[in-house]
Amino acid sequence: MSSALLTPTAPVARDALVGVDQPVPLLDGRFVPYVNLDNGASTPAFGSVVRAVERFLPFYSGVHRGTGYKSRLSTDTFERARELVGEFLGTDPERDVVVFTKNTTEAINKLARALPIERDAVVLTTMLEHHSNDLPWRSRVRTVHVGVCADGALDVDDLDRCLAEHAGHVALLAVSGASNVTGVVQPVHQLAEKVHAAGGRILVDAAQLAPHRAIDMRAHDDPGHLDFVVLSAHKMYAPYGTGVLVGPRCAFAQVPDHVGGGTVRAVTTESVAWADLPDREEAGSPNVIGAVALAAATRTLTEIGLDRIADHERQLTRYAIDRLTQVRGVNVYGPIDTVGLAAKVGVIPFTVDGLEHGMVAAVLGYEHGVGVRSGCFCAHPYIARLLDLDRSATLAWVDRVRHGDKRGAPGMVRISFGCYNDVRDVDRTVDALERIISGDIDGDYRADTDGTFRPVGYVEPALYSLDTP
Ligand SMILES: Cc1ncc(COP(=O)(O)O)c(C=O)c1O
Repeated sequence: MSSALLTPTAPVARDALVGVDQPVPLLDGRFVPYVNLDNGASTPAFGSVVRAVERFLPFYSGVHRGTGYKSRLSTDTFERARELVGEFLGTDPERDVVVFTKNTTEAINKLARALPIERDAVVLTTMLEHHSNDLPWRSRVRTVHVGVCADGALDVDDLDRCLAEHAGHVALLAVSGASNVTGVVQPVHQLAEKVHAAGGRILVDAAQLAPHRAIDMRAHDDPGHLDFVVLSAHKMYAPYGTGVLVGPRCAFAQVPDHVGGGTVRAVTTESVAWADLPDREEAGSPNVIGAVALAAATRTLTEIGLDRIADHERQLTRYAIDRLTQVRGVNVYGPIDTVGLAAKVGVIPFTVDGLEHGMVAAVLGYEHGVGVRSGCFCAHPYIARLLDLDRSATLAWVDRVRHGDKRGAPGMVRISFGCYNDVRDVDRTVDALERIISGDIDGDYRADTDGTFRPVGYVEPALYSLDTP
């Protein structure tokens, strides 16, 4: 199929990212440029991010209490990074605090522990959440899951029902800005209005939203204001181990979830005077390099233009879905009509008739140099719903997995775009899928009990080794 006329080129040159088109080995001994369609897991780094880190490293030193020049400069840089991240999200610098964390998961766990919650309160989360925006709440408070529709979109009627049922007790709606499985984007400001009207707050898990759409938390007196936002830098072209939790200063408990160095003003053997935010919530030495990297990434994303990125990814997604749905035996999940696509980031889950998801993903990787992901994407309840698994099938599967055998577990294959992907990536992937479905598979693949398919007897060349100087 000719693709040249169908989609524009990516809004950012591929060589603006590190390692895109890197040649990788195939099972037959050839090398081909890597196609990375696993950006939902982690993106490659922007070159600008790497350069920002390299420019900073000669001055890097411990922050906050050092008195030397480098320490003072590092402290200023770290705090400036905090400001830049806050600006990227439209925070109120007076009322909100940007807390650096390791990633989204840590940020949500931190919030789940830091947020004062009444004993009879309820947290609403949804059936489409990543486990990281579900399990931390379950372990803290009564958690209710708002349903989803058959196409994977949030069931807003069910949300209204839950808000009415728990009126006066809803502490928080914890919802992902974009799903890591179907890419469905939530109308977060409308949801905020609903939950605010019910007396609660909203947390937006922006792990999958922030790399693809502009986020504006809006003024605190705006009914659509977002109270809390969390994200991960490694999904935003800055893989240096940082995430953030942003929220109103007044929402954090006086005693931090992690205690230790950096969290205090003074300590005696009998008492502790806790520090102000954000220090109180950033126990131990912070990841200054990660903060610099994230700030640099927010600048690059802004320079490229998140609207341009959204536009490009939308067209690429349309193109990919059009091609995928023409392949016999491929079943695409999530919204695929024009209206649904307008409210979705570039994440496409699919299954292939007669082939296990892990097998398809393995052959794409080993024989075609295409990186995708397969399985349940840390969203088991959502996958069960999309696949329409009944309760007994789900329980049987959970039981098998509990006993250590993940073979045959339900799941899907997922492709997820970054701003640099283009039609060539889609074409190579779909062409490869067509070959796989026609039976053109070279390797003899076996699944381990962890569910991973590998070609028997293949010893992969390691193109990078820590042991080689
Ligand atoms: C929607 C969503 N939330 C949370 C997470 C967890 O992010 P991290 O692994 O960076 O903590 C992910 C990761 O894929 C995600 O997609």
